[in-house]
Amino acid sequence: MTNINAIFGLTLVALLAQAHFTFVRLAHNGEWQAPTQFVRNKTEPFEERSTPNTNNNERLYNFPTFIPDYPESVRCGRDNMAHAADTEVLHVKAGDTIEVAHTRNSPSYWTDNQWYNCPNGRGSCDPNDPDWTMDFNHPGPLLAHLSKVPDGIDVGEYDGSGEWVKIYSLGFDMNEDGSIHWLAYNYQQLPARFIFNIPEQTPAGEYLLRLDLIWPGLWEPPTYVSDTPQIYASCAQILVESNATGSPPEGIEIPAGLNTSTPGMRTSLSMYRGESMDDGYIYPGGLLWTGEELVEDKPIL
Ligand SMILES: *[C@@H]1O[C@H](CO)[C@@H](O)[C@H](O)[C@H]1NC(C)=O
Ligand SMILES: *[C@@H]1O[C@H](CO)[C@@H](O)[C@H](O)[C@H]1NC(C)=O
Ligand SMILES: *[C@@H]1O[C@H](CO)[C@@H](O)[C@H](O)[C@H]1NC(C)=O
Repeated sequence: MTNINAIFGLTLVALLAQAHFTFVRLAHNGEWQAPTQFVRNKTEPFEERSTPNTNNNERLYNFPTFIPDYPESVRCGRDNMAHAADTEVLHVKAGDTIEVAHTRNSPSYWTDNQWYNCPNGRGSCDPNDPDWTMDFNHPGPLLAHLSKVPDGIDVGEYDGSGEWVKIYSLGFDMNEDGSIHWLAYNYQQLPARFIFNIPEQTPAGEYLLRLDLIWPGLWEPPTYVSDTPQIYASCAQILVESNATGSPPEGIEIPAGLNTSTPGMRTSLSMYRGESMDDGYIYPGGLLWTGEELVEDKPIL
């Protein structure tokens, strides 16, 4: 990990208090809801079944999830099913606006001023930062997917083993010199905001809304860098009111559709370093549903 961080010139300060990150909070039509009120909580510490990129399989709250971890962890975060029944269901109308906020702090370090009265109406911030910026320490696309709850069960019982259709992604734009500017990461400065709509054509019913930022791994890693993609999944429980019926279009299954061979999960070393884009790079997570059609989720340059 030290070596990976060194590539981005990061330091290892306060690793435990402020480690990686996780998505914990939603705003609905501009109104922030309480952290973990509608987003399933996670358990820490938690024993995963794999150990890539780590010395042991014990993971803390904001640690990454890896493809060989438990399928439930890859879908919605570590031990999320243990918290599902305690998570409220957010009622939205198809077409409503959702904003997402993340934190780098463990729940034991949460304070009200990390959530409430943040500058510019953001849903999270860091009072210890001179600009109150809650940053991301890894680059990668931010993704949102919907999975419809199967008939006969409640969203609080659903493990996400069905299909997931992507409704939003926020990737990168390109600097004048052809290097890559990931909009969430923003070189560890103030991140972009993550605001999107539940498509108006979304059929009525209960859904899991999955939020993730995937740090792509490497196709051909040199020995000093890990090749392992990092996954940062959280899921919100929502009920969509809509005049549309039926099911949303075909999506991916998780983890099968987020494996090391699926498009976007790995890059060249040059792209990993942000120096240039790989030819034909496509964001991971399958096709993007605009509400009207499924489209290839390519960077818009
Ligand atoms: C969420 O989980 C964390 C860590 O497992 C725990 O410290 C915290 O109290 C939980 N939050 C809620 C609202 O249950
Ligand atoms: C359903 O259609 C009716 C009539 O057009 C409209 O008033 C209502 O707001 C729609 N409901 C939703 C959830 O979009
Ligand atoms: C990886 O994803 C591809 C689709 O992109 C799929 O065809 C393949 O079966 C998946 N592999 C595994 C091990 O799930």
